[in-house]
Amino acid sequence: HEEFTKVKNIATIELGRYEIETWYFSPFPPEYNDSLKLYFCEFCLNFMKRKEQLQRHMRKCDLKHPPGDEIYRSGTLSMFEVDGKKNKVYGQNLCYLAKLFLDHKTLYYDVDLFLFYVLCECDDRGCHMVGYFSKEKHSEESYNLACILTLPPYQRKGYGKFLIAFSYELSKKEGKVGTPERPLSDLGLLSYRGYWTRVLLDILKKHKGNISIKVSLPEYFKLLEPLQFLLWATDLIWELSDMTAIKAEDILTTLQSLELIQYRKGQHVICADPKVLDRHLKAAGRGGLEVDVSKLIWTPYK
Ligand code: COA
Ligand code: NA
Repeated sequence: HEEFTKVKNIATIELGRYEIETWYFSPFPPEYNDSLKLYFCEFCLNFMKRKEQLQRHMRKCDLKHPPGDEIYRSGTLSMFEVDGKKNKVYGQNLCYLAKLFLDHKTLYYDVDLFLFYVLCECDDRGCHMVGYFSKEKHSEESYNLACILTLPPYQRKGYGKFLIAFSYELSKKEGKVGTPERPLSDLGLLSYRGYWTRVLLDILKKHKGNISIKVSLPEYFKLLEPLQFLLWATDLIWELSDMTAIKAEDILTTLQSLELIQYRKGQHVICADPKVLDRHLKAAGRGGLEVDVSKLIWTPYK
């Protein structure tokens, strides 16, 4: 097909105490394209071609955390909300950096329209960026997340699921359901599938079949093998959606992919056999780092 693959330009970056190999092309301004390595200030995310420039910059830069409001702190973990309109350069720098690890996303030059939620590990030297997600200030499609990234040195430690959980906590505070922008990368989809599975099946397990059953139960139970619970799917999915802020379609596809939705006696039903749920929960991986909602101090963007 027509599409040409852009050659990866920057091979490595230095960011804080890490040297990181990049994954994909990122459209840095032309004057940076002859460098194999770029040096990032880990706080303001300005990037430079030479180490000495970075060292000089670090003596002047007085940021010790992302430029925005700290909206969450629990232990050494903090989340900062950065408004792309108030911090345009930071937003653009973050997009350049993120694109190095994102294959298919187009870069948003219009950072004005986005909020950036930056996750940091904090110590006495400052708040060090671990990852982030971006979110449109106003989404017609009920997107609650545009891009998500965990920086490679921090991957596979549960930060991705933390960021996803955080995006849904914001949606709950807004009183809205949300869904991530498509397409999702393979790793993105894996992370979401794991998150959705865990959240939904934890609820199904706790409710032991008593949730949202609006049909005459005894009649249905007669049809069932022992230990199986038959639930009225449509009502249940809306109720799950209310509880979790996960969009109904995502609930449906998750339950379908786990083969928990079955067609019986002319109705779609969810079969929530506790043993089956446990098996899926185990396969869905670890829960990730928990978001402690009591530590989230935030009001929705107006
Ligand atoms: N191989 C296999 N499974 C992987 C994986 C890998 N390299 N990385 C993540 N997963 C799956 C696992 O199921 C994992 O759960 P587990 O560790 O309990 O088994 C789950 O995804 C999430 O792991 P977690 O540690 O919470 O996520 P993360 O911090 O590694 O971040 C991403 C996940 C997607 C944010 C991260 O991979 C990333 O930044 N990728 C590049 C950017 C990207 O693709 N973003 C999504 C665009 S839509
Ligand atoms: Na897993």
